Amino acid sequence: MKLFNVYPLFDITPIKAKDVFVYDENNTKYLDLYGGHAVISIGHSHPEYVKSISKQVGKLGFYSNSVQNPLQIELAKQLTEFSNCKKHHLFLCNSGAEANENALKLASFETGKKKVIAFNNSFHGRTSAAVAATDNKKIVAPINAQQDVEFLELGDIGAVEKSLKKEDVCAVIIEFIQGVGGLDECTTEFYKKLSALCEKHNALLIADEVQSGFGRTGDFFAFQKHDITPHIISIAKGMGNGFPVGGILINHTIKASYGLLGTTFGGNHLACAASLSVLKVLKGENLLKNAKEISEYFIEEAKSIPQIKTLKGRGLMLGLEFDFPIAELRKTLINKHHIFTGSAKNPNLLRILPPLTIQEEHIDMFFEALKQELS
Ligand SMILES: Cc1ncc(COP(=O)(O)O)c(C=O)c1O
Repeated sequence: MKLFNVYPLFDITPIKAKDVFVYDENNTKYLDLYGGHAVISIGHSHPEYVKSISKQVGKLGFYSNSVQNPLQIELAKQLTEFSNCKKHHLFLCNSGAEANENALKLASFETGKKKVIAFNNSFHGRTSAAVAATDNKKIVAPINAQQDVEFLELGDIGAVEKSLKKEDVCAVIIEFIQGVGGLDECTTEFYKKLSALCEKHNALLIADEVQSGFGRTGDFFAFQKHDITPHIISIAKGMGNGFPVGGILINHTIKASYGLLGTTFGGNHLACAASLSVLKVLKGENLLKNAKEISEYFIEEAKSIPQIKTLKGRGLMLGLEFDFPIAELRKTLINKHHIFTGSAKNPNLLRILPPLTIQEEHIDMFFEALKQELS
């Protein structure tokens, strides 16, 4: 049986990884400035992570959500501390799309409405409602297109208000810093007004923190900078450092009932062990601070490259916008310099999403390679 061919692959076969480096079968070492698609938060094969998962799988890898699971309760407790969302409850699932799918479904249950507001250049995943709220027609099948989604210009608060006034919107879903769309972020004024408007018109504000969460921006969540609290916050990627796990933080006013949401694998013992070790290392190694410091260093270094037209994002969720398409440069960085970076919807944007453990010396390696290619 052949694989269903949906991924354009680089001809590289990683077989092991350690911290910010990935090694192929010839033991060639690659610097990972892509974090396996913004997933690796505490570094590849972190000893604490390996220990936590190994210990757990030796005891109990999985049992269903029909029994007590103290690891889920511990995870919820720790997420409260990290996020300061003291009034939110936790529902666990398996991926970013599933998190958003549950967030949208819950908003619809809660308000009794079905229209969703999303923004241009958004990406929320590939399942039913999540993909319908994603601004990429190529990945929306007719079965998804029947969802009622209105796309608005990011930052256009007038358009949001006009739409919400019709009182048929159940949710506004937004990435506080856009990921694949190209690292755009609005002002605090916009986010505050958005939050107030949702409140006024009985629509739930969903923060998609699937990519930006778990410290990637130097804050635990990207929305925290703007002094608001969304009704629902979706999480995944960095949450498990590669172990498939996702979830939503849900405002306490939204009432749960048996069967309202559910999943077989969500919040299983191994996923919880992975995520708990991520939180332990984020705190123990002060990785949010490191993300901020290395970000500053990166931004300073980037100033010396005249071909970089704009530097976008914050923390270790960064985008370098050039005045030419970066596809060839990205390939050269991988094949010649052995450095992984990310692409974006904007063909001129190179994305930088390293593990949060990255150090200045690794940033130097990247800029040396970049200078060599651009001189
Ligand atoms: C902001 C955002 N939301 C949702 C998703 C979907 O997550 P997953 O691929 O785990 O379904 C992604 C994935 O890239 C993302 O970046």
